[in-house]
Amino acid sequence: MIDKKEYAYRVTAAGRVNLIGEHVDYCGGKVLPAALTLCNTVYVRPNGTDKINIEWTDIPDKVSLDINGLEQYKTMKYGNYPAGSALMWKNAGHKVIGCDMLHDCTVPFGSGLSSSAAIEVSTIAALAAVAGETPDPVEVALLAQKAEREYAGVNCGIMDQYASACGKKNCAILLDCKTLEREYVPIKLGEYSLVIANCKKPHNLVESKYNERRQETEEAYRLLSEQAEIGCLADLTPEDFKKIGGVLGGKVYDRAKHVVEECERVRQAAAAMKRGDMRVLGMLLNASHASLRDLYEVTGKELDALAAAAQAHPACIGSRMTGAGFGGCTVSLVRSSEVENFKTSVAERYRKATGYVAEFYDSAVGDGITVTKL
Ligand code: GLA
Repeated sequence: MIDKKEYAYRVTAAGRVNLIGEHVDYCGGKVLPAALTLCNTVYVRPNGTDKINIEWTDIPDKVSLDINGLEQYKTMKYGNYPAGSALMWKNAGHKVIGCDMLHDCTVPFGSGLSSSAAIEVSTIAALAAVAGETPDPVEVALLAQKAEREYAGVNCGIMDQYASACGKKNCAILLDCKTLEREYVPIKLGEYSLVIANCKKPHNLVESKYNERRQETEEAYRLLSEQAEIGCLADLTPEDFKKIGGVLGGKVYDRAKHVVEECERVRQAAAAMKRGDMRVLGMLLNASHASLRDLYEVTGKELDALAAAAQAHPACIGSRMTGAGFGGCTVSLVRSSEVENFKTSVAERYRKATGYVAEFYDSAVGDGITVTKL
């Protein structure tokens, strides 16, 4: 048994659910994620060596990372995310000291709820805490993103790491991914609740498909920026796109159309949330899913079946996939009094359609980084 009391700090960073604004962060768009109380907790203490020793509560492996050779762990099964994060933090000029870490992750792996961001962000925050530094959460998010891109090889945007580091209890974050300006929007859903469901289809090809979508949007930007003064795809309004989108062909047209229209949906969703108009928010969730299915093509049979099962339930006013897609989770807006019935009947309908057993998570909207001295 590991005694958590023997550690100096308990540091957490959140998983996240994205309410709307999917596959637009790397196009400079606005997103609307929320940090979850599902999180990665790191218990940490200094050990007086030049090693970062890591254990997990639910994995038998133990790893020991050499602080002076952090480049060498890219293919390590469980240590790669902490190693990449420590390397980026160190290379940015921060002090990294030898320490023992115990990781305890309640964000389900491979669920699209950003377990990797939670691990990266909490690792950096733990390294800072044990070295006596109070880090800037935005810098932590940016360096965690760098770890994901340059160490783990996923060319991701900033949404996940930002939400994981800077989330706020009971608030969604309206984050402008071009400027990193943010606004916290209180999650007041009236008689409705958010329900997160995992389609349980094993993820595969996520990274290669994700990087392929990025390339397609970069190609769209290159061609459209010859037609209009834009700094990123998200600068185009749907009206602009109607005028000039015709220079794009085939799939690249579809991808760009999704991005431009999804950005507009985020604007409308944030406004609907502020005035408490849940019906409109729900309709926007449904429209977002349809666009991710038909134009961006990142849903797949299982996520489509799960969203369709949710949308067909009378207590549900909107449902969509959340995260990168190709498996993972949906988020649904469901009348609170009907949540249990919703879960049972959606699970049944989904199982009949796909053979998979969906999993539901009870998570509240929580804070980003927390640091507690033990
Ligand atoms: C993943 C990435 C994010 C974002 C989403 C899609 O979660 O890490 O940066 O691009 O996919 O919205």
